[in-house]
Amino acid sequence: MFHDLTLADVRAETPDSVVLTFDVPADLSGAFSYQPGQYVTLRADVDGTDQRRNYSIASRPGAPLCVGVKRVEDGVFSSFAQSLKPGDTLAVMPPEGRFVCKNQTDLVLIAAGSGITPLISIASDALARGARVTLVYGNRQTETIMFRDTLDALKDQYLERFTLIHILSREAQDVALLNGRVNGEKIAALAHAGAIDLQGSDGIFLCGPGGMIDDVVEELKSQDVKPALVHFERFTMDGEAPRAPKSRAAEDAAAHGVAVSVYLDGTRRDFQFEAQDDTVIDAAERQGLELPFSCKGGMCCTCRCKVAEGSAEMAVNYSLEPWELEAGFTLACQARPTSENLVLDFDAA
Ligand code: FES
Repeated sequence: MFHDLTLADVRAETPDSVVLTFDVPADLSGAFSYQPGQYVTLRADVDGTDQRRNYSIASRPGAPLCVGVKRVEDGVFSSFAQSLKPGDTLAVMPPEGRFVCKNQTDLVLIAAGSGITPLISIASDALARGARVTLVYGNRQTETIMFRDTLDALKDQYLERFTLIHILSREAQDVALLNGRVNGEKIAALAHAGAIDLQGSDGIFLCGPGGMIDDVVEELKSQDVKPALVHFERFTMDGEAPRAPKSRAAEDAAAHGVAVSVYLDGTRRDFQFEAQDDTVIDAAERQGLELPFSCKGGMCCTCRCKVAEGSAEMAVNYSLEPWELEAGFTLACQARPTSENLVLDFDAA
């Protein structure tokens, strides 16, 4: 699942972010091929604890795989990443994720902070294949803008088809419309001023904090933008994610103990879910069994699996789509059994 990859380059991008470029050996090039918008999970032992984080790929397919890591306050992995050097190795899971841009021809991209990372991959790939791209990018100030040089280079190269709109919250710009935060109101104002064309776009991609995404998505709904055209990815939660408490059925099942079986890479493993366990991943970990996971926040889908027998509820779900829920998929990092036994299939497509 994880592969040790060597860092070919580590570049300071802003005072609080680095870009890590990996050397992917030829025999792993197939496993590490990716679509614009996907992410990789990085894993490292930091001060004796196993840490995993997802980082969106910033490069465009065909270019050396790189990710941008912005240091977050008290962020164990993001602080550790700032100290990495070329030649260091990291355990990396092959690219995943369904926040991908395929063949849209008129894109509106909306990012805040390090939410630019998947969108710069999407923008550079789309521009190279002839699409029109408008990027609204929110930051505090000029010095915190990630990939500024890359964006300027894209602007020079695709002057006719690339519109770049910087919104700054702590640095005044001459045009009042460009000051403030990226939110639904700002997007509505930009659309009203003719700076972005929401109705003419065949793909609107958002990446940033959950609050920004929720607000902009609401605004897009009120502007009658078809939901199928809107794609978003949250890179972090605003504070603690609201988690539903265990239902009565889940409490009862846990109190009696649930026999859980998982199928992973063709092998069956059994363990017990008990009252002390919050989720299936917690129960497995407590019993020394490692299941796939990364964010543990219901956002990345790394722990996606199918309920083959029994039933389970989720504490939160920010990533499974309605058709997946109907098909019986769940997120093991959020799943709580509501039946006497539970069989989860991690190999289900
Ligand atoms: S580990 Fe990310 S959704 Fe479960």
